[in-house]
Amino acid sequence: MTPTRSTIHDDGRTLALAGGGHFNRFWLRDACPSLPTKESGLRTFSVASLPADLTMTGVSDDGDAVIVQWSDGHVSTFDADTVRRIAADAAEHRGTPAPVRTFGAGHEPPTFPAARLVAGSSEHHDLLDAVAIDGFALVTDLPDDDGATEILADLLGRIRETDYGRVFDIVTEPEAWTLSQSNKGQDAHSDDPFRYTPSGISILHCRRAAAGTGGRSIVVDGFRVAEDLRAEDPTAFDLLATVAIPYIRRRTEAVDQGDDVDMIAHAPVLSVVDGELMGVRFHERSTGVFDLPADLVDDYYLAFRAFADKVRDPAYQFDHRLADGEAIVFDNQRVLHGRTGYETDTGGRRHIRLCTVDRDQVHSRLRRLKDLHDRPGRASRMRSGTMAV
Ligand SMILES: [Fe+2]
Repeated sequence: MTPTRSTIHDDGRTLALAGGGHFNRFWLRDACPSLPTKESGLRTFSVASLPADLTMTGVSDDGDAVIVQWSDGHVSTFDADTVRRIAADAAEHRGTPAPVRTFGAGHEPPTFPAARLVAGSSEHHDLLDAVAIDGFALVTDLPDDDGATEILADLLGRIRETDYGRVFDIVTEPEAWTLSQSNKGQDAHSDDPFRYTPSGISILHCRRAAAGTGGRSIVVDGFRVAEDLRAEDPTAFDLLATVAIPYIRRRTEAVDQGDDVDMIAHAPVLSVVDGELMGVRFHERSTGVFDLPADLVDDYYLAFRAFADKVRDPAYQFDHRLADGEAIVFDNQRVLHGRTGYETDTGGRRHIRLCTVDRDQVHSRLRRLKDLHDRPGRASRMRSGTMAV
């Protein structure tokens, strides 16, 4: 039965509100209307200013108001409905992971003509929302100009400067220092897995496609691979989600487009929170020696192999030959990218521009655009990506 009167329980540590709802002493005091709200940004209150043995010593109802006396002498006057709304909002933020739609071969990705992507427009929202839900989107008809890369990136947020600079111009080099600068194919992978926080939402902008028919882009949904593996072999999934392996990038001498570096990040392939996939970090060429306990090595390799096998399975591979002026905008902490090889690019034609924006910036902008256009999903908890340990 719904209580008609507010009462105190657990030796003053819990309040049962008239009309329903139980509230903890510290939570309630933290929500006291005498303090600036948590959203105000002006709050100087610290929970450390409360005694650890704080209790509620008295309560009375006055219409919609609930008056609480505290053991430290403070008196709070709450609006009961406001307290319940704050609790419900908090529960919603915590409890609803943002939806995802996984993809495989034959996928028809959300596609946006560049001319319609005006900053602040509903199409701007839809592009960012598509990347959050589908993992990647295509942008077509970009102007025939190097500057188009950064104009597109501006819709996401601030470009993160990496070891390759602000924008990495990938052209075929006679002496490649990354596989990307050769004409060889690349298995689908995450970029920069050796960073504690790898690249976020990245753009691969095709300025000039290779001559011939090669150089097709391959995009694999790491979430689909992981979920299928979880269904088929939950033990393998758990190993990939709990055992960290090293990813490294080591270069003892600087090259044209990068410093000498010795980057090492230990991280699991799958980042999982409360059973929900948050991110994927997978790049076979960048893994170091698996420094695992002897009794784990064989099982771990089998799990890693099962994941790698799916990444190479054409059923998981969306493949598309980017045309001049097309770009893929993808979540590098979920979606893996690679390419097929292409004929020797003697004319130096092939030119891809790559840059990245941190994911939290993109998700922040997406929330603002949802507010602006009154779109659903505002309260969802965004996937926070891959985590190093
Ligand atoms: Fe890459």
